Amino acid sequence: MIKKLELEVKSFGHYTNTYLIYDENKEAVIVDPADKAEIIITEIEKLELKPKYVLLTHGHVDHVLALEEIIKKYNIKVIANIHEKDMLVGNVSNCSNVFGLTQNKYNPEDFILLNNEEYISIGDVKIQMIHTPGHSIGSCCYYIEKENILITGDTLFSDCFGRCDLPSSNLDDMINSLIKLYKNFSEAQMYPGHDNSGMKVIDTYPVVRRYLKYTSMIDLDDFVNS
Ligand SMILES: [Fe+2]
Repeated sequence: MIKKLELEVKSFGHYTNTYLIYDENKEAVIVDPADKAEIIITEIEKLELKPKYVLLTHGHVDHVLALEEIIKKYNIKVIANIHEKDMLVGNVSNCSNVFGLTQNKYNPEDFILLNNEEYISIGDVKIQMIHTPGHSIGSCCYYIEKENILITGDTLFSDCFGRCDLPSSNLDDMINSLIKLYKNFSEAQMYPGHDNSGMKVIDTYPVVRRYLKYTSMIDLDDFVNS
């Protein structure tokens, strides 16, 4: 099961999606605790969930503002992609400055850093990390095969892909990540880091293809259908 919480980040009118994913025994993961920890905790208690991990799709500040409180409250580890390490516990900017904030340095011991295609389990639900660099070097998606759900973070939204002009962003990486998603997860229901959820990955293809064709002279058809 998946529950979406659309949380306002620092009351700036900027919203990020936090997801609670849980099995029938209420074992749960919290994906991207964006902000407003009290709202996340209230929902966890209402649903009587037992949090096991936090999963991060990437380290940007608007996805982690409630992270410290959630770690403290539930004494759980944080899963992220290994390539995001320098943003989480090192010196790569997580865009805190964009929100007028000072970057938080997290404790490396709180993290379990995984490689592409490694699995996490909650009960009998397996969640696979899919490394999708581009928006940041350690951006990733999470795939739940049992429900054909793909958590896409800021890699893919309902009507565009994530920006590639931030620290550790790379447009070539993003294009390869998008090709990977369209080739392998086209029928999955997607749950992005912002805005609408529930459409299929393939439903985003026409607008993304058109955008890349006219901005980067790249035709995704040449790669996705080959
Ligand atoms: Fe982001």
